[in-house]
Amino acid sequence: MIGSISEQCLSGVCRPAVSTVLPERRLCVQGGEAMSQQSLIISGVSWFDDRGRTVNAHGGCIVGENGLCYLFGEYKTDEENRFAGFSCYSSPDLVHWTFRRIVLPQQADGLMGPGRIGERVKVMRCPTTGRYVMFMHSDDLGYRDPRICYAVCDTIDGDYEFRGPMTFRGEPIRRWDPGVFQDDDGTGYLLVHEGDIYRLSDDYLSAAEQVGEGIALGGEAPAAFKLGGRYWMLFSNKTSWDCNDNYCLSAPSMRGPWTYQGLFAPEGSMTCNSQSLFVIPVHTDRGMVPMYMGDRWSFPHQASAATYVWQQLSVNQGRLRLAEYWPAWSPVSGKEEPFEGRRIDVGFRSDRAGESVTIPFHGSRVALTGRADQWGSYARVGIRRAGMGGESAMVVNPIFVSWYAKSPDFGYRYVSPELPEDDYIVSITVTGEMPGWTDKTGQRFGSVGSFVAVDHLLVM
Ligand code: GLA
Repeated sequence: MIGSISEQCLSGVCRPAVSTVLPERRLCVQGGEAMSQQSLIISGVSWFDDRGRTVNAHGGCIVGENGLCYLFGEYKTDEENRFAGFSCYSSPDLVHWTFRRIVLPQQADGLMGPGRIGERVKVMRCPTTGRYVMFMHSDDLGYRDPRICYAVCDTIDGDYEFRGPMTFRGEPIRRWDPGVFQDDDGTGYLLVHEGDIYRLSDDYLSAAEQVGEGIALGGEAPAAFKLGGRYWMLFSNKTSWDCNDNYCLSAPSMRGPWTYQGLFAPEGSMTCNSQSLFVIPVHTDRGMVPMYMGDRWSFPHQASAATYVWQQLSVNQGRLRLAEYWPAWSPVSGKEEPFEGRRIDVGFRSDRAGESVTIPFHGSRVALTGRADQWGSYARVGIRRAGMGGESAMVVNPIFVSWYAKSPDFGYRYVSPELPEDDYIVSITVTGEMPGWTDKTGQRFGSVGSFVAVDHLLVM
């Protein structure tokens, strides 16, 4: 069961629903050529789906079914913040993602209609009805009209039917940042900002009882799971699209009492430059590991540049830890693995709009490294076939890539999709923007510069 990570799972007795069973090297056949590619979870870079577009599913969750992981999330645009639909992707290995569909598009009118915000989609299968229930945050564009809403569907990745606001005692729940948790006995819970917790009705279509109130005042982005015989909840502070040092609480039951357990990532790391989202069990060769899923938001170019920070959690002497940040790791071995590539030194740093660097390479995949920090901004990064001009030469369309990080980060900035081995040119063009935004109270956050820095190109 997703969300509940029992001790049994930890000792490897049971196989969690999300299991990674593919061999470490996946034989990938493209364009008539066979290539051996690393299957790695790479945090902080855009991922590409089976269509060659960025995996665009933010603020969501993963549900495991029939050996597949279904990733739900906000289908962002690169231009604006209004609701553009919730997406669903599937993967056998948490690395290769197939776009399934927009499971909830913008509605013709109403709470999820034009001019509304739609965020933090969560899905659970209700054991009583067998139906899938989707939870979401609906709001106006200024975040002044929050509502938790829901939709239902008979299949995991079908067209969800929007039903409207979720109620408690007949009144809409006017909160934001929904999280969900399903306990071992099938009881469903809805979590919202400030740490209110509701037990859901048997059909999951309304809140039946409030079992927690204000357990994390000032907190948002709740994620709940069970680990080491205790219930855990993660929260972030409120800094809008910026990240902060997230924290956790634990309790002997979902009803509490909840006790503050401090930060779970190193102080000042800004939770590896991410915001808490969800936790799932992943079955690796070294047993079950609980995987923290965080969002590295990138306003305003979220569709291209918002990325995923998926890291391993552990409980040591009763303390929850996300100790070491692994830029890349194998969900099969459960160990850190660097992107293997021939290194080309680049040494490019610029904040001038339009300035660019182009690097030719022969290979099937590339990664860019370079420092991201609070002076960082965006570049457009794309790949074209060498020796050809015009549109048809483009093999990976340019996307926005972010060099902004609240806490300095030296990981990968861009990793290309897998390509047939050939001669290519990667181009990096500085946009010159200074990305910034305001939170729900009007305070400004974001970058103080427009720099882009590329140290190396790694060629596989
Ligand atoms: C926080 C929330 C997000 C979103 C942004 C908007 O990060 O957790 O879901 O509402 O604020 O500012």
